[in-house]
Amino acid sequence: MRRNDEMKLGLFLAQAGYNEGAWRDPSVPANGGVDIDHYARLVAIAEQAAFHFVFLPDSPSVVEKDHASIARVSRNDGFEPITLLSALSARTQYIGLVATATTTYHEPYHLARMFASLDHLSRGRAAWNIVTSGNKFEAPNFGAKELPDHDVRYDRAREFVQVVKGLWDSWEDDAFTRDKESGIFADTSKLHLLNHRGDYFSVRGPLNVARPAQGYPVLVQAGASDAGIRFGAELAEVVFTAEPSLENGRRYYATLKEKARALGREDDQVAVMPGIVPIVGTTTQEAHEKLQKLESYTHIDVQIDTADRWLGAVTDLRSMNLDSLVPESLPQTNLIQSRQKVLLDLAVRQKFTWRQLISLVSSCRGHLMVLGTPDEIANKMVDFFDQRAADGFNVIPAMVPSGLKDFVDLVVPELRRRGKFRSRYFGQTLRENLGLKRPFNQFMHASVSSHPSSDNFGARE
Ligand SMILES: Cc1cc2nc3c(=O)[nH]c(=O)nc-3n(C[C@H](O)[C@H](O)[C@H](O)COP(=O)(O)O)c2cc1C
Repeated sequence: MRRNDEMKLGLFLAQAGYNEGAWRDPSVPANGGVDIDHYARLVAIAEQAAFHFVFLPDSPSVVEKDHASIARVSRNDGFEPITLLSALSARTQYIGLVATATTTYHEPYHLARMFASLDHLSRGRAAWNIVTSGNKFEAPNFGAKELPDHDVRYDRAREFVQVVKGLWDSWEDDAFTRDKESGIFADTSKLHLLNHRGDYFSVRGPLNVARPAQGYPVLVQAGASDAGIRFGAELAEVVFTAEPSLENGRRYYATLKEKARALGREDDQVAVMPGIVPIVGTTTQEAHEKLQKLESYTHIDVQIDTADRWLGAVTDLRSMNLDSLVPESLPQTNLIQSRQKVLLDLAVRQKFTWRQLISLVSSCRGHLMVLGTPDEIANKMVDFFDQRAADGFNVIPAMVPSGLKDFVDLVVPELRRRGKFRSRYFGQTLRENLGLKRPFNQFMHASVSSHPSSDNFGARE
């Protein structure tokens, strides 16, 4: 993507909104999580505003520790993302569709097939948010007691993506000739078996679906630990971050681009998109009142549980004096290391008590939260963009639909007035809209020729 003067915008969508208590607001449909019309309405708002994509986070598990919290959150009543985006692909035309899927608890063949299908269904608008699982409650859903170690998860993820790409390349773009006259459906000289054997996977291939419309769906990643940045620099085309500090954001941006450059990648082929939780008011005071109202919806048990998780589950917050200061360090987590660091950094800089930190985590989980007028919010975004802490933003409404509508109706026009955001789509595929190149088929220039009747032909090893 040429880094022109325009930012990229994605919509980060949670059932009721990002704020834990949002589902209780009278304006929010409490059954939205399992109502396709609710999602279709929200995505239509984003598409009309020419957002680049809608993003669905996911974890194949509940994330709460106990019934007291489970009873009070809305997130355990929602769709699996690839399924939901497949339905939404039929109700949208241009907006990109980013689904989260973990490499720790899937098999590459399954995911390669599902994302290839989503890419065809949407005529080239699919993207995969590659996550390694940072939620310990996923493990017992898949026969394990604990998550694998942090770095092992990334190792597996690296091999996983390599296999998925190989499967997407099973067929050259024009392999399916579908010639009724001759009766030949597929040109098998353009078929490539993967025959992958690695540390974690053994996969023969080929995939039983044509190469995705975009070659590969867009690859998204959000790890920000050392291992996460390395992984992102290697293969991510969009990188999500949670970073409220401009200074740290600039540092992260420079590090990631530098590492990607060192691996021979072009700067404009990887976009850094921090999350922003905008709370829009006609005055700053009104924005603060909106947040206070939202906060009043969330029970302290839920707030503590959420904070405990995002701090990496290394403390027992229930036994803390909540009015004491947050310490400068905590034991390193095996869960989401970067978020633990971001939150601690924020708490120490702002001299937060546990109570203040817990409340902040419940509202924005460490993302940049901006409370203010449309003008103030647009200025903050432009600042991050111009100072190279962001190529765009993942917009995370605290509550939907109202928070999304406020952003689209009031902040987007301010961004346009400043020449920072477009008013229509220019391409059909998500790659075209993000300015990303379409990847070559890795087998087309391979030295080994392929032969339809041999398992070994076209193999990489
Ligand atoms: C905006 C954003 C969205 C994320 N969405 C998910 C998600 O849906 N599911 C998930 O398991 N992890 C999600 N994560 C976590 C990251 O994918 C990553 O696993 C995590 O940051 C741990 O990696 P790290 O220790 O390298 O930072 C998200 C992170 C960010 C910043």
